[in-house]
Amino acid sequence: MKNRVKIFDTTLRDGEQAPGCSMNLKEKLEVAKRLELLKVDIIEAGFAISSPGDFESVSAVAETVKDCSVASLARCAEKDIDAAYEALKKAESPRIHIFIATSPIHMEYKLKMSPDEVLEKAAAMVRYAKKLCPDVEFSAEDATRSDPKFLSEIVRTVIKNGANVVNIPDTVGYSTPNEMRSIIEQVIKNVPECEDIELSVHCHNDLGMATANSLSGILGGASQVECTVNGLGERAGNAPLEEIVMALRTRPDIYNADTRIDSTKIYSTSKAVFGIIGRTAPLNKPIVGANAFSHEAGIHQHGVLANRETYEIMTPESVGVSSNSMVLGKHSGKHAFNDALKQLGYTLNKDDLGDCFKRFKVLCDKKKTVSIKDIEALVRNITPEESKHYTLKSYSVHIGHPESATAVITLEKDGKIFKEVSLGNGPVDAAFRAVDKITNPPKYSFENYVIQSVSEGKDSLGEVMTTLRTADRVFTGRGLSTDVIEASIEAYVHTQNKLLDSFRQKEGADCDA
Ligand code: KIV
Ligand code: ZN
Repeated sequence: MKNRVKIFDTTLRDGEQAPGCSMNLKEKLEVAKRLELLKVDIIEAGFAISSPGDFESVSAVAETVKDCSVASLARCAEKDIDAAYEALKKAESPRIHIFIATSPIHMEYKLKMSPDEVLEKAAAMVRYAKKLCPDVEFSAEDATRSDPKFLSEIVRTVIKNGANVVNIPDTVGYSTPNEMRSIIEQVIKNVPECEDIELSVHCHNDLGMATANSLSGILGGASQVECTVNGLGERAGNAPLEEIVMALRTRPDIYNADTRIDSTKIYSTSKAVFGIIGRTAPLNKPIVGANAFSHEAGIHQHGVLANRETYEIMTPESVGVSSNSMVLGKHSGKHAFNDALKQLGYTLNKDDLGDCFKRFKVLCDKKKTVSIKDIEALVRNITPEESKHYTLKSYSVHIGHPESATAVITLEKDGKIFKEVSLGNGPVDAAFRAVDKITNPPKYSFENYVIQSVSEGKDSLGEVMTTLRTADRVFTGRGLSTDVIEASIEAYVHTQNKLLDSFRQKEGADCDA
């Protein structure tokens, strides 16, 4: 019998708090739905007290997700715990996750508290949380740099006061695999009460050892792993979910442990999360990078053709990378299209399905073959109706050398047509300048422009992501077309819509206050 390891996903909390990874409410809900389909056990949806936006997203995820527990982070303070409890009220299975630092450096310089005060605070706040919620997790922040005796003492204390999950974080990514295993083994040895609770690890990747440390924690006796999709997270990130899940599944002989994750949803979830933050996977990223399953060297290709296992330790299909190149064509109806989406793991509402199907038909006229990758890109690029303040009606660009490029852009908003022309340093710059003249956005800096082909071939769809930064937030929009200028303008208009949305909400909130 394999041991069951629970996956606690913190993409929406630890991942989202990393610079350049912020998401709006809709995006967080999309990620939460995908995590539910992926079958993670717990979704940490945010840090409810940290902002009204976080409170709202924890509430919305709690209300939407049915098949996973939903957690909110809280410091060891009654007001934090109250906010977490309030935000989780509609969750089928809520969890309050409270933390306090236990290392000498954090206690002295950050908390300015003695170890006894920390111990007392942790006990009191776990007791307080337990009265509100049956599922209480306690994290000893910076556990791996804590005095081992003190760590065991606080673990014993919080269990006694009601914590049913205790997490041992390697907050600054300082630990090593041997040490991590030994820390978990020591805690279990010193605190036999750990038998009755879930012991968890949460490893950061500062020295590139987050996956190895998490797996060593499992070997030491941890039964929960905290991780994020694509390893997003503070600084160098958290342990990537996809690596932990596939290491356990590929090496049962070593770990004798498994999760309930549906690994065939890993690739699409990874793509969706990268798409939302406007990034793409590095080519050689394990499991989800474009080269993860490609065999370039002749000797490797020869081996794989003779027997896949010569160079393949897991199949691309097992993580949802499909080798199926063409699924649908020009004559496919909405039914067949919807069936294909379902097989890929997507369930769209009526409006999104209609929108997607329309774009699919347009694509069939432009492209000889429509692949699974194209269909996934169409789904990834659905723009919610309410975010369409401005929509692109038409554009024309003129480029030449040595003169500047010229763009004429026509956008529509609330039935009104706006047209502007601009010169620029190339067609994309000219088009973006013309869009700015229409939307008149608040002050921003242009952070990032990413362009990638969705599939192989010269007629491939181009997917563009543009990211803008304001004083306190970043906004990413996406566009998709076989014409990369059109995809660029769509991405930019989408980003501008999100920026305008957020400023309007802020102005509304300021007026309400
Ligand atoms: O890294 C860390 O210590 C954390 C805790 C809040 C669990 O994210
Ligand atoms: Zn963390």
